[in-house]
Amino acid sequence: MSHLLQTDPRIHEIIQDETSRQINKLQLIASENYASPSVLEATGSVLTNKYAEGYPGKRYYGGCEYVDQAEDLARERLMQLFGAKYANVQPHSGATANQAVYFTFVQPGDKVLGMDLAHGGHLTHGSPVNFSGKLYDISSYGVSKESGTIDLDEVETLAMREKPKLIIVGASSYSRNIDYKAFRDIADRAGAFLWADIAHPAGLIATKLLNDPIPHCHVVTSTTHKTLRGPRGGIIMMGEDWENPFGIVAPKSGRVKMMSEILDSVVMPGIQGGPLMHVVAAKAVAFGEAAQPSFASYQKQVKANASRLAGLMVEHGFNLISGGTDNHLMLIDLHNKNVTGKEAEHAMEASGITLNKNMVPFDDRSPFVTSGIRIGTAAITTRGFREHDMTFVADMINTVIDNINDEATYDRVRDEVRTYCSKFPLYTELSE
Ligand SMILES: Cc1ncc(COP(=O)(O)O)c(C=O)c1O
Repeated sequence: MSHLLQTDPRIHEIIQDETSRQINKLQLIASENYASPSVLEATGSVLTNKYAEGYPGKRYYGGCEYVDQAEDLARERLMQLFGAKYANVQPHSGATANQAVYFTFVQPGDKVLGMDLAHGGHLTHGSPVNFSGKLYDISSYGVSKESGTIDLDEVETLAMREKPKLIIVGASSYSRNIDYKAFRDIADRAGAFLWADIAHPAGLIATKLLNDPIPHCHVVTSTTHKTLRGPRGGIIMMGEDWENPFGIVAPKSGRVKMMSEILDSVVMPGIQGGPLMHVVAAKAVAFGEAAQPSFASYQKQVKANASRLAGLMVEHGFNLISGGTDNHLMLIDLHNKNVTGKEAEHAMEASGITLNKNMVPFDDRSPFVTSGIRIGTAAITTRGFREHDMTFVADMINTVIDNINDEATYDRVRDEVRTYCSKFPLYTELSE
């Protein structure tokens, strides 16, 4: 029996509607996934009631003996998964994990080098509308106009000219494997810390399908809800712990504090209050799932599906930035189709296909219009789509773009999408 149906039928109905939307439409937003029923169960558990400011064994509140175990498990499983020596699983989101890195490694006004938002970077990598762009002196690198891949020469030139204290590597809409070692070489020459934000490809990195940033970066952050397929949230990791170079000492002993201590105290009490223990437990569940062989097969399929879909889109005459993909996503420039990103997003939505408009490198349109779309395969792969299903996905997207503004096409595609999706049952226990 649903309690919510009795006590708050309106919210119950909204949740049912959203469940149906997720089940009946093609979910191609690259940053989304379908968390497992076990992750959902932990997220909806009584752990939401527990206050646990502090860290396991050192809480500001009593009654933490069980949530301590959940947080220890989450940290241990995460470190095991990525081969890290330090992990913090408390950040409420990716943006908060990133904020903790800034507050640990740089001071307001310091120089930071990150990837341009329009070239694939994230708001928290120095956008003027974000705290990062307001507090720090940001310079940005991008992709080469010819290849669509990160221009390492430009990164090096900028790094040597600007001498940033911190270099950010990682992106929201970059489809290629990143050379973290090359970034570290540049960071070392410039005297900068190197931070990788792997929010998008974390699942592919955990399963060794993409280059590993942990050995090369001073710090690594991620979200837990994209390819990693956990609950919404953020994490921070380090490949090794070391004494902080900022001269911060423990007040009583005068001992130089380790970076792990600094990062922990920046997260809490620095920028957060009590951790969301139901989410921390759900993170532990997701990291446990990610250690299973089935997760490695899943990630292989995510990558194979993206690769097949990219090839099919090119055959349909779409212009993919960098020509293809190494990971779970692709960025498509729609200039040659005479359709804006905004028009495409609306047309797809009307046709039962959910994806997002996206700036393309050197875009001549505003972020509210854009010239591109971003497509990801993490969610459809979770529901069971294989390479041969990509033909259907590519055909539907192509049909909508070729018939832009034709409502009859939208109606027909929406019906076809619904029928196709019904072959891949999802959350059967959650829908009415
Ligand atoms: C690269 C990158 N970093 C950070 C974030 C922020 O994550 P959140 O939305 O959980 O704050 C995102 C989210 O899209 C992202 O793509």
